[in-house]
Amino acid sequence: MITTRIIATGACVPEQIITNDDLAKIVDTSDEWITQRTGIKERRISSGENTSDLAIGTARQLLEKAEVSAESIDLIIAASVTPDYTTPSLACMIQKEIGAVNAVAFDITAACSGFMYALSVADKYIRSGVYDNAIVIGAETLSKIVNWEDRSTCVLFGDGSGGAYVEKSEDCGIIQEELGSKGEIYDILTGGYTPCSNAFNDVESGVDSMWYVSMNGREVFRFATKSVVTSIRNVLEKAGVSADELKYIVPHQANSRIVEIVSNKLKIPFDKFYMNMDRFGNTSSASVPIALNELNEKGLIERGDKILLTGFGGGMTWGTMLITW
Ligand code: ACO
Repeated sequence: MITTRIIATGACVPEQIITNDDLAKIVDTSDEWITQRTGIKERRISSGENTSDLAIGTARQLLEKAEVSAESIDLIIAASVTPDYTTPSLACMIQKEIGAVNAVAFDITAACSGFMYALSVADKYIRSGVYDNAIVIGAETLSKIVNWEDRSTCVLFGDGSGGAYVEKSEDCGIIQEELGSKGEIYDILTGGYTPCSNAFNDVESGVDSMWYVSMNGREVFRFATKSVVTSIRNVLEKAGVSADELKYIVPHQANSRIVEIVSNKLKIPFDKFYMNMDRFGNTSSASVPIALNELNEKGLIERGDKILLTGFGGGMTWGTMLITW
């Protein structure tokens, strides 16, 4: 059976580190509050790099680590809610900079589930025999759309990019997945609203603030714990794999309390969940691949291990994938 295997992982984040204490200088917050409520201690924030700079950094790493030429790339999919432009796509900008002249390149949007959705799309092209390989990247500069005067959101997010180079395989790879969307509650988490103003129409009043990330934290928390628990359960059941067989779970790095609840509800030991939100915060579509790359670079996973990737986010959306590494 043809499946899709992750051959290499990569990540590229801004150098600038902003700690909780740094944030306490600009909004009424504290290291104690942020750490206790979220598990986040610091995050990387752009000092000028845009999303494409981070995404291109990741793409270059992927080519190097996988030892493949840019010309051999068939497909580039980028996931982002903070691309440089509405058009061109981030994927086309990556294509140009790395010289992947033979690739088809496009973006998708599924907020923090973006990497899961992008990997799923790449998998379908590969399984169906259309393409043999793909570069899949999640990249964000959320600092562009965060309101730095709103303590309830600005402490949560960070900038960064991560990704994977995947190839057609006949043994290991993606073995089961579940994607889901619940558009009826889209308004519990929004950002980047562009008003419909034109020469024949007054700008809608009061919409400027809708550019910023706005979130009903409690509702998102409830949604996240429910959707992640259900989708992990569904994916393991469909695959006939028990939680004991998993080496690691790489969850979306939004909040360590969400992960604790998921761990308790599923009775999966907390230390099986790989987390690095303490150092990177919530980087939306980049969070799962940044964590996966760290796990991989530390040599904590070996070929043949079963790992589970799971994300949730705006839309609302979720995505869980079981992989034989
Ligand atoms: N520092 C200090 N106090 C704060 C801060 C802050 N940074 N932010 C909010 N507070 C205050 C509030 O004003 C409130 O004060 P009040 O009681 O006087 O009104 C109090 O803390 C409690 O606020 P809550 O919003 O009820 O705090 P809660 O315990 O729910 O934690 C949090 C908030 C961390 C946002 C939580 O709801 C959460 O994690 N939700 C999920 C969010 C999430 O995962 N988002 C990302 C997923 S989607 C994506 O990744 C794009």
